[in-house]
Amino acid sequence: MLRGVLAGRSLDAELVSAWRRHAQLDARSRAAAQDLAYGALRFYGRLHALLEVLLRKPLEDARLRALLLIALYQLDRTRAAPHAVVDHAVRACKALGLTSAMGLVNAVLRNFLRLRPALNTRVQRVETARYSHPQWWIDKLRAQYPAHYAAVLEADNTRPPLAVRVNRRRASVAEYLDRLARHRVRAEACGASAVLLEKPLPAERIPGWAEGLVSVQDAAAQLAAPMLGLVDGMRVLDACAAPGGKATHALELSDVELTALDNDGARLERVRSNLERLRLEAHIVCGDVREPASWWDGALFDRILLDAPCSASGVARRHPDIKWLRRQTDIAQFAQTQSRMLDALWQTLASGGKLLYATCSVFHEENHEQVARFLERHRDVTRLTLPAVDNDIQLPAGQLLPDRRHDGFFYALLQKA
Ligand SMILES: C[S@@+](CC[C@H](N)C(=O)[O-])C[C@H]1O[C@@H](n2cnc3c(N)ncnc32)[C@H](O)[C@@H]1O
Repeated sequence: MLRGVLAGRSLDAELVSAWRRHAQLDARSRAAAQDLAYGALRFYGRLHALLEVLLRKPLEDARLRALLLIALYQLDRTRAAPHAVVDHAVRACKALGLTSAMGLVNAVLRNFLRLRPALNTRVQRVETARYSHPQWWIDKLRAQYPAHYAAVLEADNTRPPLAVRVNRRRASVAEYLDRLARHRVRAEACGASAVLLEKPLPAERIPGWAEGLVSVQDAAAQLAAPMLGLVDGMRVLDACAAPGGKATHALELSDVELTALDNDGARLERVRSNLERLRLEAHIVCGDVREPASWWDGALFDRILLDAPCSASGVARRHPDIKWLRRQTDIAQFAQTQSRMLDALWQTLASGGKLLYATCSVFHEENHEQVARFLERHRDVTRLTLPAVDNDIQLPAGQLLPDRRHDGFFYALLQKA
């Protein structure tokens, strides 16, 4: 999986193909393998730098390099017994048919253990190693958040919180916390409807998930639907709806007529199954936001949510591969798509209606600057102050940075004259 990502493929795609190839693996082994892939990608900047110092010349074999990175990750960042890690790495090397490299693997890993303090001091001087992010990403964050960039980079390298949204039609947060306590699942409330679980669990094993009592959704993402100010009977468009996290939240909050649009048919299936699990209804439409003529019937919407495709720089800890797959030039491309989406949707909004623009990015180009440019292009728009929908999460100027309780998110609420 690590080799696949380093060759340019997404971790999600690698996971799917790995489980297909190794269908015999039990759930525990899968979880362990997945943990190694995520961990090594989270700290790839540091591991890469360590490996550079430990090797006399670069490795030609990508499998061998991935194997060493994984073993270094285990030695450097986990509590796995060092001798077992070295032994298993040497055996894995043999199993891969790389018998001539067994001595090298053994020597590199033992040298790491022996020279650890000096190596640490040396690589910590290099920013890409210290923060395990590409240099352009570090530079951009430093320029945009001079006071907070280091905290954001560090948060990106933590394990993300697991938050669920309680379906308030069916239970209160306090009732759900009671239920978790009965199942001995430790958790804390966060705001109006979010509950943070202390330890991660697969969705199917979260109490109440199968019966539609809760959905997995980050606490910052749970701010979107309440900010729309929904009233029963409104016509609402969720323009980038899949897999349906925010759309289902909107339907839990009010009886609106909701259209869930997305251009990815496979992801729309996930909207369908989430609606089914939660026993909710929406019109599901497959289409490209940028071309309303192909999916819009001409009836104006009272509320639009545009949760736009973005760099996902606010959720790097959930997708550590994106740090190494994104290119600096991608950001301008995302910004261009987002502005085309905003312009296309604006014509489908009723006068007096509101559009909530959201991204899970922390980069200004996709957020503040995007909205500023929209305000320059359109005269019939007012940017509203975001309603205070949650006492636990403050939204200074719409930008949330990732922290212990929630992901990085951006919100702007625009009203049509
Ligand atoms: C950030 S995700 C949406 C998450 C969703 N709102 C939720 O809360 O579960 C962005 C979505 O935009 C969709 N998308 C990307 N480009 C699109 C386009 N041109 N037209 C419609 N949907 C698009 C993607 O398929 C993806 O599902």
